[in-house]
Amino acid sequence: MSSDSVSNPVASVPDASTRICAVYGFPVRHSASPAMQNAGIAALGLNWLYLACETPPQHLPVALDGAAAMRFVGVNLTVPHKTLALDCVDYIDPEAQRLGAINTVRFETLDSVSGDWVGLGQLERWPEDDSPVRARGFNTDGFGLMKALEEELNWTPTGQTAVLIGVGGAGRAAGLTLAKEGLKRLYIVNRTEEKARDLAESIRLEFPLVETAIGYPEPGNQVDLVLNATSLGLKAGDPMPWDASALKPEQTRLAFDMIYRPAETLFLKSMKAAGVKTANGVGMLLWQGVKALEIWTGQPVPVEPMRTALLKNVYGS
Ligand SMILES: NC(=O)c1ccc[n+]([C@@H]2O[C@H](COP(=O)([O-])OP(=O)(O)OC[C@H]3O[C@@H](n4cnc5c(N)ncnc54)[C@H](OP(=O)(O)O)[C@@H]3O)[C@@H](O)[C@H]2O)c1
Repeated sequence: MSSDSVSNPVASVPDASTRICAVYGFPVRHSASPAMQNAGIAALGLNWLYLACETPPQHLPVALDGAAAMRFVGVNLTVPHKTLALDCVDYIDPEAQRLGAINTVRFETLDSVSGDWVGLGQLERWPEDDSPVRARGFNTDGFGLMKALEEELNWTPTGQTAVLIGVGGAGRAAGLTLAKEGLKRLYIVNRTEEKARDLAESIRLEFPLVETAIGYPEPGNQVDLVLNATSLGLKAGDPMPWDASALKPEQTRLAFDMIYRPAETLFLKSMKAAGVKTANGVGMLLWQGVKALEIWTGQPVPVEPMRTALLKNVYGS
C-alpha cells in the first residue's frame, strides 16, 4: 500500500487509496468534528475520511504511533489528550509549545527534493516504506477563538479589557492568545487561584505590557469582554461559572462562552438578559477545525460547507 497513488479523488465509499484522519478523545462519541471535517473534505474533492476514535489516555502514545505507521494524514485531539500529547509527538510547533497544548497533529515525511518535512496530506503519493514519518503538534484553538470573537462579536483584543473565567487548558490558551493579540488588561478568575497566578506570571514574562489582575474588576469598573472558559454550563443544573455579586453583567458589553452545547448556557442567558451581546463556542470549534484542515491539506478550505455541517450536527439546523 505504501506507494499507491491517490487514484480515486472523490470516492463515494472508502477504498484502498482513501487517506485517513481522525479525532482522538475520551469520550468522543459526542464529537461534531467528523461531520464538519468530512464536509470540508468533500467540498475539496479529496478521497479522505475523517473518523472519531475513542482513545483512553493511557493509549494515546500507541494510538499516535499507530496512526503514523498507517500513514494517517493527521489527527485532532480533544479532552483529555491536549496536554498529554506534548510528550507524544516528535516536534512541537512554537505556538503549541507556547500555549502548552496540542489539538492538531500532522504526520510528515521528508521531501526527497527539498529536504523539508512535508505533510502526508500534501503528497500525491503515499510515502515509500522506509521514509521517516514524524508527528508534529499544532494548536489551532487560539486561532479559532480569535476568529470567532471577530466574526460573531466584531471584537479584536488590541487595547481592550477582558475578564477570563476559567484557566484550565482552554482558558490558559485563551489568556495567552488575548495577551499576544495586544489586550490591555486581563482579569483572571479561577476556582484554583494558583492556576490564575501561573497564567498571570506567564503573561507578565512574555507580554510585559499587558496588565493582569487576579479576581474580578472593582465594582463599577467596565470591561469589554467576559469569557467563560470553565466547564460549568455543560451539564443541566450546573451553577453559574462566576460570582454574580462580584461582577454585574452591566459591567461588560460582550460575553463569550466556549461551551456550545447547550447553545445558550445560564451564563449567556444572564448576560443577554442584561443587554450584553453574546456568542457561544460553536464558531471557535468551526475555526479551529478549518485551520486544522488547512494544516493537513496545505490549501485554503471552504468554510461554509463545514459551518453548515457543524450547525446541523450540533443543533439539527
Ligand atoms: N468551543 C471550542 O472549540 C472549545 C475548545 C476547547 C474547550 N472548550 C470548552 O471549554 C471548557 C474548558 O475546557 P478545558 O479543556 O479548559 O477543560 P479543563 O482543562 O478541564 O478546565 C476546566 C476549567 O473549569 C473549571 N471548573 C471545573 N469545574 C468547576 C467547578 N465546579 N467550579 C468552578 N470551576 C470549575 C476548572 O477550574 P480548576 O482549575 O479550579 O479545576 C478549569 O478552569 C469546556 O467547557 C470545553 O468544552 C470549547
